[in-house]
Amino acid sequence: MKRRLPQISELRSLMKFEPVTLDRRAARLAKAADVWDLRAIAKRRTPTPAFDYVDGAAQRELTARRAREVFDSIELVPRILHGTASADLSTTIAGAPSALPFGIAPTGFTRFMHAEGETGAVRAAARAGIPFSLSTMGTRSLEEVAAAAPDSRRWFQLYLWKDREKSRALLERAAASGYDTLLVTVDTPVAGQRLRDARNGMVIPPRLNLKTVLDASYRPEWWFNFLTTDSLKFASLSDSATDLPTLINSMFDPTLSFADLEWIRSIWDGKLFVKGVLTAEDARKSVDAGADGLVVSNHGGRQLDRAPVSFEALAEVRAEVGAGTEIILDSGIMSGADIVASLCAGADFVLIGRAYLYGLMAGGEAGVERVIELLAREIEVNMQLMGAATIADLGPELIRRRSGRG
Ligand SMILES: Cc1cc2nc3c(=O)[nH]c(=O)nc-3n(C[C@H](O)[C@H](O)[C@H](O)COP(=O)(O)O)c2cc1C
Repeated sequence: MKRRLPQISELRSLMKFEPVTLDRRAARLAKAADVWDLRAIAKRRTPTPAFDYVDGAAQRELTARRAREVFDSIELVPRILHGTASADLSTTIAGAPSALPFGIAPTGFTRFMHAEGETGAVRAAARAGIPFSLSTMGTRSLEEVAAAAPDSRRWFQLYLWKDREKSRALLERAAASGYDTLLVTVDTPVAGQRLRDARNGMVIPPRLNLKTVLDASYRPEWWFNFLTTDSLKFASLSDSATDLPTLINSMFDPTLSFADLEWIRSIWDGKLFVKGVLTAEDARKSVDAGADGLVVSNHGGRQLDRAPVSFEALAEVRAEVGAGTEIILDSGIMSGADIVASLCAGADFVLIGRAYLYGLMAGGEAGVERVIELLAREIEVNMQLMGAATIADLGPELIRRRSGRG
C-alpha cells in the first residue's frame, strides 16, 4: 500500500464539529436515538423509587415482560416499489382528529417523576396535536391542566370508585374544562402488588432520610426541582394516605359492577371508553353498558400479573365488537414499530404510558416532546418501508408472527 501525507485542505473538510450548545438538557435529549435511550437517561437522573414506580409492574412482572416478547416477535411486511413518497400519520379517534395515531395514557403521581409533570406533558401533546389523558390520581387539577394548554385535546380518566358524588363532581368539572373523552378504568378494584415499590419503601411524599440525601448528591436536579416547587399532592383527591396501595384500597370498591358503569354513562355526555378490557365477554358487556369504545389494556402489567398481553387479546375483542366500535390499545408500547404492529392488528389508536414518562424523567416537557418526535419518525419510516401511505392502509396483511422463534 502506497502512503502519502494527508493534505491540510482535505483534513479541514473532514473536521465538522457539532456547534457547542449551552442547553445541556436539549443536548442530552437530542442524543437519545430511541425511547430505550431516554429510559437509560431517566434511570440516571431520577431517584430509584420514582424510576421503579414507573418501570416496575406487578408481582413477577411476567405480563409486562411478555408484552415485550410479543411485540418483538411481530414481523412487519415490506412492500417494494410501492410508490409511497410520504406517509400521512393523522387519524381520528373518539370523534375528533389526532395528528398522530397515539396519545398520552393517564398516569398517576406524574410530578413525582419530574416537577414539570402533567402541565409539561399536556403542552408537549398539544404542540404535537395528540390527546393527553389526565388521571384521577394526577398531581395537577383538571383546571390547571386545561389552563396550561387551552388548545390541547384533553381526556379525563376516572376510576370506578366508592364515592358517587365525588365522581359526579369530577365529571362536571371535566366537562366544564373542555375534556372531550372519558376513560373509565375498570381493572383496579384493588391495587396491584408492585413489589419494587414495596422493596423501595415508596411513600408519598418521599421522606428525607440518609438514603434519599445520598441519592440527592448524584441526582441534584430532580431534588432541586422537588424542593423548590409546590408540594406534591393528588390534585383531585382529598385523602392523605401515604402509600399508594392504602390510598387506592380506601377509595375503590371491589364490589363495583356494570350497573355502576351504566350510571357513569348516564351522567357523562362526551365519548366514553372503558379502559382495561381483555376479553370478548367484558368487551360485550362494556358496549352494552353504553361504552363508545374500549381500551384493550392490562395497565402496563401493573395490576394482574399473568393477565393476557394486550396485543394478543386484541383479536378476540375486535371479533366480538366488530369494526363499528373503536379500540385503543396500550401496554408495552416502546417504539413506532410497536404502534404500527398494533394498528395493523386492528387497533384504531394507541396510548403510551411508560414511554412518555421515560421522556419526562429524562428532560421534563422537552423530554416528552422528544419521545413524541422519535415515535412519529419511527412510524413514518416503517410506513414508508411497508408501502403504507395512510394509517388506514395498515392492515393485518402487513404483519406476521414469528412462531416459536421469539
Ligand atoms: C407510573 C404509572 C402510573 C399509572 N397510573 C394510572 C392511572 O392513574 N390510571 C390509569 O387508568 N392508568 C394508569 N396507568 C396505566 C396507563 O394508563 C397505561 O395503561 C399503561 O401505562 C400502558 O402501559 P405502558 O406503560 O407499557 O405503555 C399508569 C401507568 C404507569 C406506568
